[in-house]
Amino acid sequence: LETQVGIIGAGPSGLTLALMLEKQGIKSIIIENRSRDYVENRVRAGLLEHNTVEVFDSLGVSERLHKEGLVHHGCYINFNGVSQHIDFEKHTKRQVTIYAQQEVVKDLIQSCEERGIPVLFEADATEIEGVETKKPIIHFTQNGEKKSISCDFVGGCDGFHGIARKTLPKDSYKEYKIEYPFSWLGILAHAAPTYDELIYAYHKEGFALASLRSPVVSRLYLQVDNNDAVENWSDEKIWDQLEKRLGIALNRGDIFEKSITPMRSFMIDNMQFGRLFLAGDSAHIVPPTGAKGLNQAIADINNLAKALISFYQTGNEDNLNNYTQKCLARVWRSLDFSNFMTYLCHKQSEEGTFESRLQKSKFDYLRMSEAYQKTVAENYVGMPFEAFE
Ligand code: APR
Repeated sequence: LETQVGIIGAGPSGLTLALMLEKQGIKSIIIENRSRDYVENRVRAGLLEHNTVEVFDSLGVSERLHKEGLVHHGCYINFNGVSQHIDFEKHTKRQVTIYAQQEVVKDLIQSCEERGIPVLFEADATEIEGVETKKPIIHFTQNGEKKSISCDFVGGCDGFHGIARKTLPKDSYKEYKIEYPFSWLGILAHAAPTYDELIYAYHKEGFALASLRSPVVSRLYLQVDNNDAVENWSDEKIWDQLEKRLGIALNRGDIFEKSITPMRSFMIDNMQFGRLFLAGDSAHIVPPTGAKGLNQAIADINNLAKALISFYQTGNEDNLNNYTQKCLARVWRSLDFSNFMTYLCHKQSEEGTFESRLQKSKFDYLRMSEAYQKTVAENYVGMPFEAFE
């Protein structure tokens, strides 16, 4: 096979890249090792920043998002039962939209189909050859057959476990990571949320987050130990702990998904080598506390698509050469904000210690300072793309 941009991974990164390129007449092929059904039903994030929605608007893929997505103008941060509202609208004139990532993926795949962008499912990329040449080759296997795509550029959009990052020479980047000493027990329940906006709650027994996926599906999380297991958590125990930590009554609907996710930050400080460019989870992951993962991925793609488009339109490689540098400023902002929210809201030590007193002081300051609220709001809704120009 042959194309201009060979893309590995049909997650939000790869699909959005293909659609942005197609709009400017640039051809691509996406290969994805999972089935279409799998990627369309994989439960992941669910909060879209203002910027992200604007990108989807510009691609004409946001009709269902605007119909079914829920626009939120703020959120709550609680500390041992005391609640502070963060007003996005007042501080930033921007909002966020609650719309599940698997719905985003469905919309993007459908649009690729309509626009004739080939998405090859159950096609496993095994090697990227010749990234230092002008014609790299992606080798992959599909139905037991060995195949390849010859292209001008490779989009490494294959997530945290993909092969793109492993293809970068080891000495071309530095790795940064933190493993947090706690995990999230996340549930999805057929239950109408009793809250109108997200609630991030510090409680002396641990963090809890009340989120949602739709007016009839609640998404809720509890801080648990890293070595905890879902078997230790009956439905009743989960609901009891959620109500206690959030300090509100909940609709206790049927829990249809229960899983434990470790919390970590990871990034590399180089996202390109020769003609291979990484975007999204392949280059960095953040704890979900700041809802930045999916949004950072789309911000990377916005830079990458623009750089590729300017190369194809003018032959100028400056934007391609500056791609990593352009992305990293925002990646560090996402890491810092996710880390800030994580430490503000999680239980890290017994009450009364130095750390816990600083944590409480941050929360007290959030209650008294409009400036601090604005800082949280503008990071939460996402700094405009132009802020990093
Ligand atoms: N060959 C083909 N496809 C692959 C390979 C491979 N060797 N390895 C991984 N993939 C596919 C995965 O199956 C997955 O569908 O690449 C895709 C990567 O998608 P995501 O993991 O969703 O990553 P990305 O598109 O960068 O999306 C941003 O940030 O915080 C998260 O929830 C957020 O998943 C979202 C991500």
